[in-house]
Amino acid sequence: MNSKLNDRVKSLRALIDQHDYKYYVLNQPDISDEKYDELLKELVELESLHPELITRNSPTQRVGSDLTKSFPTVPHIEPMMSLSNTYSKEELVEFDRRVGELLEGHKYEYVCELKFDGVAISLIYENGYLVRGVTRGDGEKGEDVTVNIKTIRSIPLSMENKTRLEVRGEVLMYRDDFMAMNQRRIEAGEAAFANPRNSSAGTLKIQDPKEVAGRPLKFFSYYLRSLDPSANFKSHFDSLKELERLKFPVMKAHRVCKDIHQVFDFCKEWEEKRGTLPFDIDGVVIKVNNIRQQETLGATAKSPRWAIAYKFKAQQASTKVLGITLQVGRTGVVSPVAELEPVFLAGSTISRVTLHNEDFIREKDIRVGDIVVIEKGGDVIPKISMVMLEKRLPSSKRYTFPKKCPVCNSEIIKPEGEAAWRCENMTCDAQIKKRIEHFCSRDAMDIENLGEAVVAQLVDRHLIRDVADLYLLQLEPLIELERMGQKSAANLINGIERSKHQSLEKLIYALGIRFVGEESAKDLAKYFKALDKLMSASTDELLQIQGIGERTANSVVQFFGNTKNSAVIQKLMSAGVNTKLTSSSAEHVPQIFSGKTFVLTGTLPTHSRDTVKKMIEERGGKTSGSVSKKTDFVLAGEEAGSKLAKARELGVTIIDENEFMKMVGKA
Ligand code: IVH
Repeated sequence: MNSKLNDRVKSLRALIDQHDYKYYVLNQPDISDEKYDELLKELVELESLHPELITRNSPTQRVGSDLTKSFPTVPHIEPMMSLSNTYSKEELVEFDRRVGELLEGHKYEYVCELKFDGVAISLIYENGYLVRGVTRGDGEKGEDVTVNIKTIRSIPLSMENKTRLEVRGEVLMYRDDFMAMNQRRIEAGEAAFANPRNSSAGTLKIQDPKEVAGRPLKFFSYYLRSLDPSANFKSHFDSLKELERLKFPVMKAHRVCKDIHQVFDFCKEWEEKRGTLPFDIDGVVIKVNNIRQQETLGATAKSPRWAIAYKFKAQQASTKVLGITLQVGRTGVVSPVAELEPVFLAGSTISRVTLHNEDFIREKDIRVGDIVVIEKGGDVIPKISMVMLEKRLPSSKRYTFPKKCPVCNSEIIKPEGEAAWRCENMTCDAQIKKRIEHFCSRDAMDIENLGEAVVAQLVDRHLIRDVADLYLLQLEPLIELERMGQKSAANLINGIERSKHQSLEKLIYALGIRFVGEESAKDLAKYFKALDKLMSASTDELLQIQGIGERTANSVVQFFGNTKNSAVIQKLMSAGVNTKLTSSSAEHVPQIFSGKTFVLTGTLPTHSRDTVKKMIEERGGKTSGSVSKKTDFVLAGEEAGSKLAKARELGVTIIDENEFMKMVGKA
């Protein structure tokens, strides 16, 4: 049995690795997230039943489990030097001249690539396994953040090249992921990160790898060296090709340039196109391609002579702050926004920028009427970089953060230790609207055509006050709404009706309980199987569920303990909204018997044949009435007769009920 289990475990690993590569490196996933989760879950379960099968490159090892106290400092095998950099073409020409001079008339070429605005990391592989991931630190020594690095799914944990290798590259976050994450942090009352780079750097230093695993870190490699010097590459270009072959993410935008003019073209092209990338770059790195020539050129105390960074200038414009307005989010967080005199900057017109929170405004002393410099730096998100104090009017006044909600006028509060002000009035129109929008959104109840504009009208016209009211909507008043006709109103009603059959996990997510994201909603649905069970769960019970921490558990209990919330849920139930785990979303059972045939014979001591048959089928196996060479197992009870004899004759594995129960993990 163990060898069969082992086979399944191996094939699951191979499958997951393949899907990780397609998803995280090639950006071409070919299975659904759900299917992927199923594979991973099956592997986690099999490994937890058989810990002896766990290997250090198993995809399950990315999830991270142990809390580390602090990261040890380790010396780099080769120092991680910095790059000399320049903002000017003239200095590039000068760099090229020096390279030519030092190479004494030999021909040379460059590779140009993007300068990622992230965090540099060094990865050491031994015997084909990732053994260490270290931050740049001071260049000589860095912090060993291997546990966190392992959570980044595009970084291979093992590879076929068995020589001792060092891979370097950049850990970063995509802008969209970053903004979504920041939004969640703001909603949760946590401080927002300033930009994707800071956020990546901060994340790598978190002491809890589980938390890291939930952050959207990405990786691009740009350097590969064998630590066995005899096995090295001829050119940088070849090493990038080898990185690709070894399944590392390598940014396609690298190019061999024959001379400095081709280098200029590359720089110009990416300075213009950088906004089209999903992540931030702050320049171009220019490297002499031939590795021998790199060695000839050597390095100064700080940086190699064979490479230089051409940095893009931050794009700036100045404009006037017309006002500071406040936005109220779903959980009541009040965020300030600067309303600007529209100004065109690097491809788009900007009329609003976030001011994050009260502290940000105070530190920069931003005032209404000020002329400010806005900037799209390495990051393409515009921000206020400074106030032009010399243009400030003498009459201007420091901004004081209002103490009342701009929508419902109730007092707002700032919890101890949090950066954000909050409106605690659950019945605040702004919160009501945002909650309903969230409930209808695609990842939640997925009700089409119920976006911001329609929700606003429905709330403003007092047609709905909470999510349950949606199910009481009639056709006629809908037709009256702006930009709504008979047909779209009917579609809307149909969409609402359809959403009654949405799965339990989506419903739980749709309720908008603080800290309950899609993943936790799934965990909760699978565990409780019905909404009423979840509603009466205690903190202790919630804490037993894998993936549910203290913060989430408390928040769930608090949510259902609120009588207003339970009343809304009662209304949802009476309207006929599904609150049970349906078969399609039923708990997934590991398919350990997939492709296997069982024959049952004799009377089993404790279980009926039907029960056992069901257990086999649920796990992907089949049962048959007669023994043949194709039979994998004969499960024999008392008074088993001719079938048992036949099994012995054919050498088919014979097991008893007890062994069977062990196989399914129930003994
Ligand atoms: S190569 C010896 N390539 O720039 C040269 N670095 O100032 C090793 N960086 O710490 C670096 N993109 O974080 C190289 N395509 C790229 C890069 C890159 C970003 C960063 C890296 C390094 C810094 C050097």
